[in-house]
Amino acid sequence: MSGGQGQAGRSFGERLRDGALFCAHFLTDPFGLSTPLSSSPRIAATIARELVAHNAHRVVELGAGVGALTEGILEALGPEDTPLCVELKPAFCRRLEERFDGRAHVVAGDATQLPVLVAGTPWERPHAVVCSVPLITSTARDICRTIRDVLPSDGLYLQLAVRRGPVSEFFRVEKTYFFPLNLPPERLHRAYPLEQTQ
Ligand SMILES: C[S@@+](CC[C@H](N)C(=O)[O-])C[C@H]1O[C@@H](n2cnc3c(N)ncnc32)[C@H](O)[C@@H]1O
Repeated sequence: MSGGQGQAGRSFGERLRDGALFCAHFLTDPFGLSTPLSSSPRIAATIARELVAHNAHRVVELGAGVGALTEGILEALGPEDTPLCVELKPAFCRRLEERFDGRAHVVAGDATQLPVLVAGTPWERPHAVVCSVPLITSTARDICRTIRDVLPSDGLYLQLAVRRGPVSEFFRVEKTYFFPLNLPPERLHRAYPLEQTQ
C-alpha cells in the first residue's frame, strides 16, 4: 500500500452502531442497499490492492455507505490524496464525515449525477471509480454510463455487484473476483471504459 491512511480503528461500540445504522436503512430501503450488512474487510483489501496496482490517486467512491470500502481506498492512497465519497443517504454522509474526519471528501448526492458532482473539482477526471451502488434498479444503466463518461480511457472502474449486469455494456471487464463468504456472495469487477457508442 502506498499511504496506509486506513484502519480508523473503530471500537466495538462503533462497529455495532454502524451495523445497526446500516441494517436499519436496509429495512426501509432494501433495493437501495441490497444487503443488510456492510462489505467485508476482504473486499476492501482487494480494492486497495487494485488501486495501488493502478497507481490511482484521484479516486471517486459511489455508494460509500458507512465506509466499509472507504477504509480500503484510504489504505491505498497517500496522505496527500483524498477520495471523493458520494452517498445518497444523509445519515450515512454524517457518519462518514465523523468516521473519516477530513480524510475523505463526502458529498450527499446521487451517483446518476456524477458528471455534475465532479465538474470543476479535483475529481473531474478520476484515475479510478469504486462503485458499490447496487446495479439492480432502473438507474443501473445510467450509473454505468455516467461512470464511463467521467473516466479517461485508461481509467479504472471497480464495481461490486451480485452479477455482471449492465457493466459489460459500457466497460471491458478484465477480471472478476468472487467473494462466496460475503453476505450475499458478491463479485468485484475490474473494468475499463469501452468507446462511447451510446
Ligand atoms: C450495497 S451498499 C454499499 C455500502 C458500502 N460501500 C459497503 O460496501 O458496505 C449501497 C450504498 O449505495 C447507496 N446508494 C444507493 N443508491 C445510490 C445512488 N443513486 N447514489 C449514491 N448512493 C447510492 C446506498 O445508500 C448504500 O449506502
